Amino acid sequence: MPTVGRRRFFKQSTAGALGLAANSWFGRGLPNTMLLPPSARLIIDSSRRIADLDPYLLGSFIEHLGRAVYGGIYEPDSKFADWNGFRKDVLAEVRTLAVPIIRYPGGNFVSGYHWLDGVGPKKNRPQVLDRAWDTLETNQVGINEYVTWCRAVNAEPLIGTNFGTETAKATVELLEYCNVEEGTRWSNLRREHGYEKPHKIKYWCLGNEMDGPWQIGHMPATEYGIKARDAARQMRGLDPEVKLIACGSSGPFMPTYLEWDQQVLEECYEDIDAISLHCYYGNDGETGGDTRKYLAMNLDMDRQIAEIASVCDLMRGRKRSSRTLWLSFDEWNVWYRARGPKAERGHGQVAPHLLEEIYNLEDALLVGGLINTLMRHANRVHVACLAQLINVIAPIMTNEDGLFRQTIYYPYAWALKYARGTVLDLALEVEAYELPGGPRRDPPGALEAYRASRVGRIPYLDIAGTIDDQSKRATLFILNRDLDNSRNLEVIWHDITPSRVVECQVLTGPDLKAVNSFNAPKRVVPQTLEHPKASGHMTFRLPPHSHSVVHVEL
Ligand code: AHR
Repeated sequence: MPTVGRRRFFKQSTAGALGLAANSWFGRGLPNTMLLPPSARLIIDSSRRIADLDPYLLGSFIEHLGRAVYGGIYEPDSKFADWNGFRKDVLAEVRTLAVPIIRYPGGNFVSGYHWLDGVGPKKNRPQVLDRAWDTLETNQVGINEYVTWCRAVNAEPLIGTNFGTETAKATVELLEYCNVEEGTRWSNLRREHGYEKPHKIKYWCLGNEMDGPWQIGHMPATEYGIKARDAARQMRGLDPEVKLIACGSSGPFMPTYLEWDQQVLEECYEDIDAISLHCYYGNDGETGGDTRKYLAMNLDMDRQIAEIASVCDLMRGRKRSSRTLWLSFDEWNVWYRARGPKAERGHGQVAPHLLEEIYNLEDALLVGGLINTLMRHANRVHVACLAQLINVIAPIMTNEDGLFRQTIYYPYAWALKYARGTVLDLALEVEAYELPGGPRRDPPGALEAYRASRVGRIPYLDIAGTIDDQSKRATLFILNRDLDNSRNLEVIWHDITPSRVVECQVLTGPDLKAVNSFNAPKRVVPQTLEHPKASGHMTFRLPPHSHSVVHVEL
């Protein structure tokens, strides 16, 4: 592996104030031992903060796709079913995870979905063909069941609406059905269906990936922007409290990447609150299976966030607007194996096994890195959704006998449990490595070219941190990208001192390709990471290719 001389360190202040951090701390007034370069050094100054963490940054997603809904959250014939038909084991697992917001019902599914098919007496609901995934949709779960399920797991629903086969009218009628108290056609219908109180759904996605030719009802950006503006204005007229997210580019691989976003915002900037970002990552074509490249991919997420934010700000300037849009990264995950017609077409079956990606250790490490990136952009990204939650590219898998936790469950669960309060702007000094430059194919695919054009070396460590003033606790989330070497991380608490280490765990193992399964559900699970006594100056030994969490009381 190409490495650099010990003195060629990567210095990073997570909010970009690199010089200041380096000048004000490194080598000044530090104990003698620290003049010898340690493997890595982290300086934490509690006054240097990026932004308060929006709890919705750690959301997830459930689509009517494969076994996410049927056989995932809902399975009336299962031994686990409650009286609503929801699986109790899944309810308990999601409640324990404490996922704050969950997007629904799609995804590609939503662009052909008629919400009215999914309300009213279950026996009268039509069985229809979902053309997005070529699957039979029984409509036994619809908006009312979903909101009931969300309330049971203490999650906020984030509802996507059909901009594919429907007009804005259907979106507005769904909002009226869900949020108006009573006395109107659609609110009265909800009450007739047994839901007296409005659902008060606040967060709405105006369509899904409308830039993609694969999307039912795919349309040009300007047309979508006009439709989003129209829907948004009608929606706010009905309920001024709603938060509206327009469809941004489906990812940096799109030929219209950034241009789509700009044209959409040209039409609806003043009427929406946020724009969406999507991206899936994989260790195949783009990386050639090189894990050093793969574990650097969260830096592409950093870049995508910065680029979309720049387009938003460009439009703010052009429109002389006082509003700043926030970002909703409402689909992100590793997804590259369960792809192609076999994994994505349901052949007219009910709840077929689709997109059932099995995650290994290296996927979990990248997921940890991606969560770090999201946290570091907490000033701009307010909502993000790990796509998805159950059975479909998911941390939780079920069968008739129970469930198991995939490897990616653990970094996600740590962030949900320990990321609280405010994201810190950390000063990190660590060695960096070179990646073999240039794309692998000639000509390269759009996504490969995008990744290959990332400049700069890759720091071995990737760290995010939060501090919660209320509970007086702080947490570090540490990815060690070094595949071969453990690394000593010296943590210097500049103006605060931990009094107790509450939790110190690591996810690692000898085999980067190790997976969990129903037969071996505990092959990849967190272990205790040895840690020093709490003090203002602590050194942690991070195993090679690992992701760790350190949670302290201050
Ligand atoms: O999450 C799986 C699919 O990926 C979603 O339906 C779609 O929005 C994206 O392309």
